[in-house]
Amino acid sequence: MAFLPSWVCVLVGSFSFSLAGDLNFSHLYPPLWKESPGQFSDYTVENGIYIIDPWVFPERLGMYKILLNQTATYFEKFASENEQNLLWGLPVQHGWQYSSGRLADPSRRTDCGYESNHLCISVDSWWADLNYFLCVLPFLAAVDSGILGISSDQVRLLPPPMDQKRFCYDVSGCLLSFPKAMNKWSDFYKYVLSPSSTFDDLLKYLWDAHIFTLTNTLNTFEDRYVYYSEQEVKFEKDWSVAVEYIGVARIPTTLIRVHESQKGLPPRILNKTDEDPEISDFTALQNTVLMGLNVLSSVHKLTGKNFKRILHKNQDNVEQSLVS
Ligand SMILES: *[C@@H]1O[C@H](CO)[C@@H](O)[C@H](O)[C@H]1NC(C)=O
Ligand SMILES: *[C@@H]1O[C@H](CO)[C@@H](O)[C@H](O)[C@H]1NC(C)=O
Ligand SMILES: *[C@@H]1O[C@H](CO)[C@@H](O)[C@H](O)[C@H]1NC(C)=O
Repeated sequence: MAFLPSWVCVLVGSFSFSLAGDLNFSHLYPPLWKESPGQFSDYTVENGIYIIDPWVFPERLGMYKILLNQTATYFEKFASENEQNLLWGLPVQHGWQYSSGRLADPSRRTDCGYESNHLCISVDSWWADLNYFLCVLPFLAAVDSGILGISSDQVRLLPPPMDQKRFCYDVSGCLLSFPKAMNKWSDFYKYVLSPSSTFDDLLKYLWDAHIFTLTNTLNTFEDRYVYYSEQEVKFEKDWSVAVEYIGVARIPTTLIRVHESQKGLPPRILNKTDEDPEISDFTALQNTVLMGLNVLSSVHKLTGKNFKRILHKNQDNVEQSLVS
């Protein structure tokens, strides 16, 4: 852990907890988890095809819910109640995007994501666009691998109101447009299905797919930056650098750990009057993390891949100190 700045430890949830006792983690689930679809039959069916609208929060969350539910059995050997399922990182992060207002229309041209339309996910949201690929690709790759119990042509997603060409909507379309990312997720599920899978290798496959997906879609949505304050844009860029580092360090994306780490993230969109490290309605931890992300991103700019390599080299030590 010595190589990681202390704020990283905070961010990745380097704390101790006990799995003993009463195991009910439902208070850690993302918002609206209980109300969201949890099986394919909860969605609309047209001619035998399940139709999912990923631009409505519970419907997007429902894809994660099905994924978590159907993969639970493969993570049982690590802990009960699906707590060690590494796919938790995705929906828990998406839950923070929702509760912090980051899925709403940042241009304010529509009411998408606000008040009476608060479940709407805006295609103009930078966060929503990147999350799309971190939801739809792992989900459709799981369908394609057979792990979700339906065939590849049995599910289709609805397009957003604009920029339809930037997204993909079903297994065959996503395989065509994002073949490498889909392959990375398939590799993960192949390994999930292997009876001799180990936690460390699952983590490696997961982060490989996650980082590959993120870095390959990041540039596609730079035009969204115009809708945000300079501070939020900076945070968006710092955040994507940080995710890469967290991935290289292979931090386990299990339920409790990711839930804890979300507490350090900004609880609302940053505006132009926000000056870290002194944002008065943020907790000390949130201000510290924001500053830390800033520092990491500066170090990254100065040293580039070298810093990441140091982290990578020390990854085993990191993992050991994280589990101890
Ligand atoms: C877990 O706790 C929630 C309330 O926090 C409750 O609604 C739910 O029934 C509990 N689940 C189990 C399996 O005990
Ligand atoms: C998966 O979903 C089914 C049906 O909704 C439910 O009965 C079951 O408890 C879920 N399993 C897990 C591990 O969440
Ligand atoms: C920035 O956000 C804070 C907290 O919500 C608010 O008090 C302030 O008025 C906002 N400033 C601008 C310029 O929107």
